[in-house]
Amino acid sequence: MSDNHAPVLFQECMDALAIRPDGVYIDGTFGRGGHSAGILAQLGEQGRLIAFDQDTQAIAYGQQRFEGDARIRFVHANFARMAEYVDTLVDGILLDLGVSSPQLDNAERGFSFMQSGPLDMRMDTQNGVTLATKLANVSVDELTHVLKVYGEEKFARRIAVAIVEAMASERGIVDTLALAQVIADAQPVKDKYKHPATRAFQALRIWVNDEMGVLRNVLDSAVNQLKPGGRLAVISFHSLEDRMVKQYFRDLSRGRYDDALRQVVSEPRMKSLGKRFPSLEETEQNPRARSAILRVVESL
Ligand SMILES: C[S@@+](CC[C@H](N)C(=O)[O-])C[C@H]1O[C@@H](n2cnc3c(N)ncnc32)[C@H](O)[C@@H]1O
Repeated sequence: MSDNHAPVLFQECMDALAIRPDGVYIDGTFGRGGHSAGILAQLGEQGRLIAFDQDTQAIAYGQQRFEGDARIRFVHANFARMAEYVDTLVDGILLDLGVSSPQLDNAERGFSFMQSGPLDMRMDTQNGVTLATKLANVSVDELTHVLKVYGEEKFARRIAVAIVEAMASERGIVDTLALAQVIADAQPVKDKYKHPATRAFQALRIWVNDEMGVLRNVLDSAVNQLKPGGRLAVISFHSLEDRMVKQYFRDLSRGRYDDALRQVVSEPRMKSLGKRFPSLEETEQNPRARSAILRVVESL
């Protein structure tokens, strides 16, 4: 298993956070600490960094990597619960959404359709419900919805029927490779540029980890956690996530007008600092960066 994870949009994130040496920052998605290391490099003795990750392996790695650095505190928890762990307002928050390369590379975690692993897909292996249990209890309608909405999968119903039938068969679906095969076999037309299970695996991962529900909650918490002038930077990796971040930031920066009530229901609370995409050079070096979008707001 590799411990490498190249931080995406690294310099853009550092610029976006405009780090003050004595500031307090939250890295909501520590991963392997690429962005955290950049924040720490700019913090002085008085600066503080609170690093969240819901994956115990990420936290264990971080505690070892930054052992003896009193400026960083680790929290093993979902970032949506940040208000429970942080009792001061902070100068900046970074969220680099999704899974890390070590999570994808470790077959045992069940995220990969290229290697045999258990049907798990939980980022937090101490909590939640595994993919195997969810698939054993899902209806065709619900699974179709998951694949269509979270994976924008054209053949959602066919795939859902095939998965539910295979799960109910005597052999069941024994591992991630078998699941990828069921998904591939259910598609009448294959995408030329992507593995046939790419979209479905993304959808299932989002479902298992309730990523859209959690994102909605963390945006609310993060906004309330910022000092005036504090910055929130979010990197998303697929259109569904980015749409939610974009719309949320737009409402925060423009105020929200309710069409039904015909009135402004919330005043502007944030200033938009725009969006950034990875350079061609970065996407050549790190294909994972290809779909990344960074959006930034500043608290008024
Ligand atoms: C894309 S990686 C972050 C990589 C990191 N920026 C770096 O430079 O190494 C995402 C990490 O965030 C964690 N994560 C994703 N969603 C989370 C959530 N809701 N709460 C806490 N951690 C989360 C994952 O476990 C993973 O380790």
